[in-house]
Amino acid sequence: MRHLIDIMDLSVAEIEDMIAVATDIVEHPEKYREACKYKKLATLFFEPSTRTRLSFEAAMLELGGQVLGFSEASSSSASKGESVSDTAAIVSGYADIIAMRHPKEGAPRVAAAKSDVPIINAGDGGHYHPTQTLTDLFTIRREKGSFENLTVGLCGDLKFGRTVHSLIAAMSRYSGINFVLISPPELKVPSYVKSKYIKEKGIPYRQTTSLDECIGDLDVLYMTRVQKERFFNEEDYLRLRDSYILTPEKMKMAKDDMIVLHPLPRVNEIATEVDDDPRAAYFRQAKNGKFIRMALILKLLEVGNEN
Ligand code: NCD
Repeated sequence: MRHLIDIMDLSVAEIEDMIAVATDIVEHPEKYREACKYKKLATLFFEPSTRTRLSFEAAMLELGGQVLGFSEASSSSASKGESVSDTAAIVSGYADIIAMRHPKEGAPRVAAAKSDVPIINAGDGGHYHPTQTLTDLFTIRREKGSFENLTVGLCGDLKFGRTVHSLIAAMSRYSGINFVLISPPELKVPSYVKSKYIKEKGIPYRQTTSLDECIGDLDVLYMTRVQKERFFNEEDYLRLRDSYILTPEKMKMAKDDMIVLHPLPRVNEIATEVDDDPRAAYFRQAKNGKFIRMALILKLLEVGNEN
């Protein structure tokens, strides 16, 4: 039985296969309408979510399966003091696969140890978010055609932004990648991510506080929200939240074929006027999330492997 806790749990070849399946789902959705008939997905969300939870639920429904779960810790037995591993052990008796989001780093791994069914990490604190990365990779492939030789700018809260950590890990496996890490000094990529996936692999990178200075070099610009809920004090959040705002003026300095990604939700970091720019790929990205999660559910449930 396989879980997805860290994006590195999947090989490059497996990601390639999932992208092929997701592409086939986009083109021939009717083939998959009963693929997960009688299967149940439980969504255990101890932290708020719109896209991730609903795209998981839509994914399972479009595969002909069913969904159950909760969308806040206060409506689960966590509010009575139940541990994550007990909750996982119980729910694994009710569902065939579980997607879990939790504010504590490592919680889905703890759950996996006690679960009889596959656990998917749908975001653990400021740590990792592998299914957002699958969404990001699927989008980059569809928009740019390849993962090779890209200069990828990551901008905003690179410290607490879990999507950034998983994306750096995933992109570090492709050749010709260059990272540009754009953040205020207080919100730099944590050293455990930087050493393991950038420095040790000898990947060229630069760190800057200025988006203007580097935007013209980028093939992909990955914007992120300053993660208010992970700040220790309101004052720091207020000081840093508007560090970067992507505007139509800044987009004029970018390449004609650069794409702008954002895991969403956006707060202020992308002006709404940018939405009409064809290079703004974030709404297409959100839509792609459902298809790649369908491919992931099929993979972990080993559906379609019978023949
Ligand atoms: C991200 C998350 O939850 O980490 N959102 C998402 O899953 N699409 C990014 C964020 O909340 O800023």
